[in-house]
Amino acid sequence: MATKRNFPLTTPGLAYEKNSLYFEGISLEKLAQTHPTPFYVYGQSTLMANFQEFLGEAQMAGLQNPLVCFALKSNPNKELLKLLANEGSGADIVSGGELKRALEAGIPGERIVFSGVGKIEPEIELALLKGVYSFNVESIEELELINTVAKRLNKTARICFRLNPIVKAKTHKFIATGNKTHKFGLIQGDIKKAIKTPKFWTHSKLVGLSVHIGSQLMDLKATGKAVKILGELGRSLPETPEFLDVGGGLGVAYSPDEIKKRPEISTYMQLVARGLEESFYAHYKQRPKTRVVFEPGRRIVANAGVFVMKVLRQKVSDDQRFTIVDGGMNDMMRPAVYGAHHEIVPVKKPASSKKVDTHVVGPICESTDCFAQRQLPPFKSGDLVVLSDAGAYGYSMGSNYNLRGRPLELLVEGDKGIRVVNKAQPYEDLL
Ligand code: LLP
Repeated sequence: MATKRNFPLTTPGLAYEKNSLYFEGISLEKLAQTHPTPFYVYGQSTLMANFQEFLGEAQMAGLQNPLVCFALKSNPNKELLKLLANEGSGADIVSGGELKRALEAGIPGERIVFSGVGKIEPEIELALLKGVYSFNVESIEELELINTVAKRLNKTARICFRLNPIVKAKTHKFIATGNKTHKFGLIQGDIKKAIKTPKFWTHSKLVGLSVHIGSQLMDLKATGKAVKILGELGRSLPETPEFLDVGGGLGVAYSPDEIKKRPEISTYMQLVARGLEESFYAHYKQRPKTRVVFEPGRRIVANAGVFVMKVLRQKVSDDQRFTIVDGGMNDMMRPAVYGAHHEIVPVKKPASSKKVDTHVVGPICESTDCFAQRQLPPFKSGDLVVLSDAGAYGYSMGSNYNLRGRPLELLVEGDKGIRVVNKAQPYEDLL
């Protein structure tokens, strides 16, 4: 199985057939003949399987009436959202734009939670008019503003405090959110004080508590702690909360050696169930109807998408080799911003096992526009390569930097084949 060791595939939809790479049954070579590179391609089948596993495992673990609110920031593609909406998904949003997108995709207000430290008045107004399930409040001033806007509109805002549990999540420091130095959430003392301040509650009602301590979590120790702190605070509230929201953050395997380290969804759900049982449900004589809300993004969509690029040319400078591809950090920022690892897989399986040390770089005028430096086959101009596990925080973090266009997004819809699901600004239109 030498080839398997050469190109272990972390994305379940990828497979070689006759030495050519397919994604969910579609030949990527053929796809690149009919669609301009670079492009993202997503797989309906993996997306649906991930969502169903998430929801199913929550139910299996005995979590009460779970609501899975997909984090739009990870991938707000409308067609993907429509598929999730049909499965009963809700949405975790952080802007008015995301609110509109979720509604357009058919996710009703009563399945939408609105997080974020910088909500502005027009967004709050729209969210109130659309009847969002909760405002996940991150500061006292925000609470005051929501109450004021609700008064003006003669509405009652559904409030959830986002708790900052002061725990240390083991992940990249840019994506940890649950400690005191982070801007997110409110510490317990401030939540308790706010609850006792009548002026905040004339047009607002406390309905829940939430916590989100970070993203790409492979070690769930801090998650377990945060869930317990959430449950303890929950049972100390004057009224039993309608829901407890445990956020998102579950990690995925970006490289083959991470596959074993990746926590199973079932393990995660059992941890949440046990944590809430001990800290919350067990303390009531009559079991409360409090439901559990989740905000996963990455775990639902990361491995349901890949980014396909074409090799433009090679350049060898003394002992350094550069493989220049047509995708850039404006299309896929994760390696440039977090030094994130994504597997780079050749679409045509190389005949020989020869590898060279190369920097895989894009066209952007920044040295950080580099997808990887590693041992890869000696690619040549015109070769196609795939950046694996690119479905989350790929397109959504992209920009027009260097006045480049935005890549196409394609969807493999099982037997129905392939469909362009976003051609907002194909590169060719700019030329
Ligand atoms: N809920 C809240 C309040 C969040 O801030 C986030 C992510 C999520 C849920 C979803 O987390 P997930 O399940 O996807 O880990 N751009 C970074 C990730 C930033 C995450 C921001 N917040 C990356 O590419 O790794």
